[in-house]
Amino acid sequence: MQMEWTTSKLPRETGVIEHYREYLPVSEATPIVSLGEGNTPLIYCLQLSKRVGRGCEVFVKNEGVNPTGSFKDRGMTVAVSKAMEHGATALICASTGNTSASAAAYAARAGISCVVVLPVGKIATGKLLQAFAYGAKIVAVEGSFDDALRIVCELAQHGDFAVVNSINPDRIAGQKSAAFEIVDVLGDAPDFHLLPVGNAGNITAYWAGYQEYQARRRSTKLPEMIGFQAAGAAPIFYNRIIEKPDTIASAIRIGNPASWKQARAAIAESHGAIDIISDEEIIAAQTWLARREGIFVEPASAAGIAGLFKCCESDEAAYSFQKIPDASRIVCTVTGHGLKDPEAVIERMKELKSVPATVEDVQRAIGL
Ligand code: F0G
Repeated sequence: MQMEWTTSKLPRETGVIEHYREYLPVSEATPIVSLGEGNTPLIYCLQLSKRVGRGCEVFVKNEGVNPTGSFKDRGMTVAVSKAMEHGATALICASTGNTSASAAAYAARAGISCVVVLPVGKIATGKLLQAFAYGAKIVAVEGSFDDALRIVCELAQHGDFAVVNSINPDRIAGQKSAAFEIVDVLGDAPDFHLLPVGNAGNITAYWAGYQEYQARRRSTKLPEMIGFQAAGAAPIFYNRIIEKPDTIASAIRIGNPASWKQARAAIAESHGAIDIISDEEIIAAQTWLARREGIFVEPASAAGIAGLFKCCESDEAAYSFQKIPDASRIVCTVTGHGLKDPEAVIERMKELKSVPATVEDVQRAIGL
């Protein structure tokens, strides 16, 4: 099916599907809906590495630089391309914000409509603004993300919409590409992979990606997967549904994750762990990463960094890094851009007072 947006004579912009076509469920019949997602930087972080010590190397996979500012775009390009192949005319998703921003953008790109169902009052401003800007139909429900997802699944049974939440296997397939990229850059899998866990699609996808690459002999080993949930929204850690999940990290405010079992399997099979992080630790890690490494992420993304600190420094860590081999390689995925959630920072910003427009006044204000 030749679609209008692929007929330009110029080389097509690259994206996850063009890069990893042979690993994805696409064929010549699949119209590619892409915004040039993926190929995000794997940043060596000296200050983080020093904090771990003993020659260990820490890399941050910065997913905030994807087209809509989060990792969701990797899965969305595949899910929306496949939905188009199957003749969908409308997408639907529940979201804590990033999935809806991504779905809305890819729907706009594909020329189809998009409905997003969100927990009212629980979405960071930047993400809501994105869904609006891309022209999605936004419905705010008086309930949690888990309620929103339940409603979306019921609506989808009537067949009017293609669901693009991570219960859609095409989303997981696309998100595997982040693991492929890490192996392609490092030359092998890392020893440890740390990331935040919400609906648990991403940890499921990374693990599948690492396994697939090893099976195809692109890597010789598998990392231990270590996931972090916010302490007030930690169903997998506590092994029970959390009716009223609560955390400042709104992206991972989820009490009944869809990929719960798969996440458990990834953790068990990789000999990894699941742990919890307090809101204070999340905010401290967000600030630290911005000020010490120049990487500004949203609170949920900082959960993995807070988790790294916990592994290194706390006696209560579910996984201690105090005895890991010297020179281990650790990758932390930061999942979304800091600008998506300005409230999280504005609250901590000091009031900005103006000064007269003279060199002397500015010097005085700087403290010279
Ligand atoms: N980090 C960010 C920034 C997210 O937006 C999400 C999930 C996660 C981590 C957790 O990933 O769900 O695969 O375990 N956000 C979803 C959403 C739920 O609707 O945008 P997960």
